[in-house]
Amino acid sequence: MSSYSNPAASDILSRILAMESPPNPEATTILARISAVAQAYEKREPGARETLIDLSQTLITTLELPSEAIQRIGWAEPARAAHCRIAVELKLFEYLKETGKNGISSSALAKKAGAEEALVARIMKHLAAMHIVSETAADVYIGTPCSNAFTEPEYRDGIIYTYDVLGPSFNALPEYLRCTQYRNPHELADGPFQHSHKTKLPYLTWLDQNSPYLSIYNRYMSAYRSGKPTWCDPGFYPISERLVAGFDVGISDVFLVDVGGGRGHDLEELREKHPLIPGKFILQNRQDVVSTIPADSKTIFQSMSHDFFTPQPVKHARAYYLHSVLHDLADDDCVRVLTNLKPALKHGYSKVLLNEIVVLETHASFSVTSMDHLVLVLGAMRVRTESQWRDLLQQAGLRVVSLSTYPGAAESLIEAELAG
Ligand SMILES: C[S@@+](CC[C@H](N)C(=O)[O-])C[C@H]1O[C@@H](n2cnc3c(N)ncnc32)[C@H](O)[C@@H]1O
Repeated sequence: MSSYSNPAASDILSRILAMESPPNPEATTILARISAVAQAYEKREPGARETLIDLSQTLITTLELPSEAIQRIGWAEPARAAHCRIAVELKLFEYLKETGKNGISSSALAKKAGAEEALVARIMKHLAAMHIVSETAADVYIGTPCSNAFTEPEYRDGIIYTYDVLGPSFNALPEYLRCTQYRNPHELADGPFQHSHKTKLPYLTWLDQNSPYLSIYNRYMSAYRSGKPTWCDPGFYPISERLVAGFDVGISDVFLVDVGGGRGHDLEELREKHPLIPGKFILQNRQDVVSTIPADSKTIFQSMSHDFFTPQPVKHARAYYLHSVLHDLADDDCVRVLTNLKPALKHGYSKVLLNEIVVLETHASFSVTSMDHLVLVLGAMRVRTESQWRDLLQQAGLRVVSLSTYPGAAESLIEAELAG
């Protein structure tokens, strides 16, 4: 056997070739673009941060050898995800945060966590190598802004939810698709999620019956877009011109109904960013979510138990807002939800606002495409293109008035009203 057919030898050879070959011209181009966008980032231009992240990821895949790509995708990133989950369980991120700039050794961390020292040392080394924590001296660590944020309940729950609920569903995807001969999943109660979690329940019903995960999911939902531009930021959707102007308490004193609005985080943000908006805010969700909303939220919005598959009880509000609600549903169900809104809409006055991902025809970002796969593994759902949204609204007897986007934002704001 020649040394070239030996995989280890051929890997060494490709590394040597990579070192000896001139710099990859594509990488040089990307570096030049990074430096140009860095100037936009310095000036806080919208979208510059997201473009830098995308370019940095492109740079990595351009520079790394195929063997390195497999190592990253196949072991380094899965190990990082598992270690973050373990760190949450053992409160390692909390201990790092408490210790501040002094740093803490892995043996001290192990003692606090009640785990074997040698194991914690190995976990910490990888978390540092993957830039989740920082190593300041041999086996001494401090937290980073990222690991410190992971101690906050909503981010901590993001790690738990994505690892425990999504992780097994993604792992089950290849086997599931092999069994279905590579058909798009189209049953809410028979997909990769059910395959991996050994259940016949639709995802949301499963969440209801596994209450710790229901709270974990709801807390994470309040944080997964944290820090990103939202529809109520200046320059995204003209709230004052389109909603506040023309708001008429003689028609109804309700300004906005957030249908399926989690625990009210969007309404809190709207009130904070637009304190002068008049009228009432109403949050609607299923009873088991509404019952967990803290009492102090009542100063910002009223909450109401409502199933969005039944007729909308709040009539003639200025706007009915649905954020990431329809992407969880098949087309028929979306039409049912929208049709149930219709009798409540006042012609020429009430707006339907869909705050959803609209997939670009080309060069969709990973935050868009990964959401498509998230909803695919959880239950035969999908994100939609502009023409698919238009179709859906038309089927429900609504028409699109405007579609607002913002640089770097994955989600758009579709304003619709009664057609005809
Ligand atoms: C993907 S979450 C979106 C939450 C929130 N709008 C956001 O974007 O953060 C979907 C929401 O719809 C709610 N939901 C699911 N089925 C519902 C139903 N039949 N009626 C009302 N709300 C429902 C869920 O409880 C959850 O809060």
